[in-house]
Amino acid sequence: MIERKYKEAISLILKCDAERIFLYWKGRVALYAILKAMGIKKDDEVILPAFTCVVVPNAIIYLGAKPVYVDISTETLNMEIDLIEDAITPKTKVIICQNTFGLSSNIEEINEIAKKHKLFTIEDCTHGFGGVYNGKPNGSYCDAAFYSTQWNKPFSTGIGGFAAINNLELLGKMQQLENEKLQPSIIEQFALAALIILKKYFINRFTYWSLVKLYRFLSNKNLIIGSNQGEELSGITIPKKYFKDISLIQIITGIKELKKNDSINNLRQKNATAYTRFLMENGKTHIAMNFFENHLFLRYPVLVENRESFLALAEKSKISVGDWFLSPIHPVKQKFDLWKLNMNNFPIACSISQRIVNLPTDIKDNREVLNFLNSNLEMIK
Ligand SMILES: Cc1ncc(COP(=O)(O)O)c(C=O)c1O
Repeated sequence: MIERKYKEAISLILKCDAERIFLYWKGRVALYAILKAMGIKKDDEVILPAFTCVVVPNAIIYLGAKPVYVDISTETLNMEIDLIEDAITPKTKVIICQNTFGLSSNIEEINEIAKKHKLFTIEDCTHGFGGVYNGKPNGSYCDAAFYSTQWNKPFSTGIGGFAAINNLELLGKMQQLENEKLQPSIIEQFALAALIILKKYFINRFTYWSLVKLYRFLSNKNLIIGSNQGEELSGITIPKKYFKDISLIQIITGIKELKKNDSINNLRQKNATAYTRFLMENGKTHIAMNFFENHLFLRYPVLVENRESFLALAEKSKISVGDWFLSPIHPVKQKFDLWKLNMNNFPIACSISQRIVNLPTDIKDNREVLNFLNSNLEMIK
């Protein structure tokens, strides 16, 4: 069966049994399934970084539980380990840690805290598939991990995601939940197939800016199969048909894309090395070489003085600079109380989310990017 083949290809990279992989329409649905398998319910609390995508707290809220955020470290852009214990209460059930831009969290320390307080751990590996932490694949260290195969993730099936389960006690419940998954409609499958073809043949550095803007506009209005549906960004009600299965087109695309995984990840490291060298030589903030071993470099984060102007210049120069994490719960920029986020409590995440951009790492030739950085050095922190 082709689904089994996809699971085997994934499990080969994750170095685990294919039985531990569960496939879904999106990564967020995998997180929802894991939380459900862990028995998360009304009034439970789940700890997560205050520098994530809003769909992560959404999955928690959809189960009636409360997201409890922890500020991030300026160095790693992952949770500040020293702040985690302050966020734990008798209601805490889970800690979610993240591979932000591909850099693993410091998992031994997080696991020690979780063990002390008898909590589950989940690794958000949506940026980190194919990367390693201290020699073992990202996602190996926590009770469960979830991954995304959305457009700009380590490998892409348009949209998509999966869970990998390490705590065998969760396996039975995950298998039970398989029966609850809803099937994507034929229209959804065709629409996604069309977008995958469009991306393959039409997106390049010259069309990137206009196509990304058009895609975001249409998906927020629910006029296209989007990364986010409008209601996921404007409120906290679970969208209809949320708990959806993966489709055949995603499985076929995934099997094909996985074959390129190693070569693209090598390219990411090569480009990241060039960016770090350039930024270091010019006295700018950069990712230290000692992080490279545990970094996948899905994108290379850079801090800038005036993000809007920087992005406008990048658009003019046709450089595919990304603008992820525009707020601690990207891309939401208002009504934070709905998501139980008090911005005053997360000074680092707030400050960084106002100044961060990211550079492409999966490009064959980085000279255009380096020239662009060189021409706009005074804007880089
Ligand atoms: C940090 C983080 N977590 C979770 C997700 C959700 O992944 P998906 O879009 O596959 O649901 C994203 C998606 O972009 C993300 O950036």
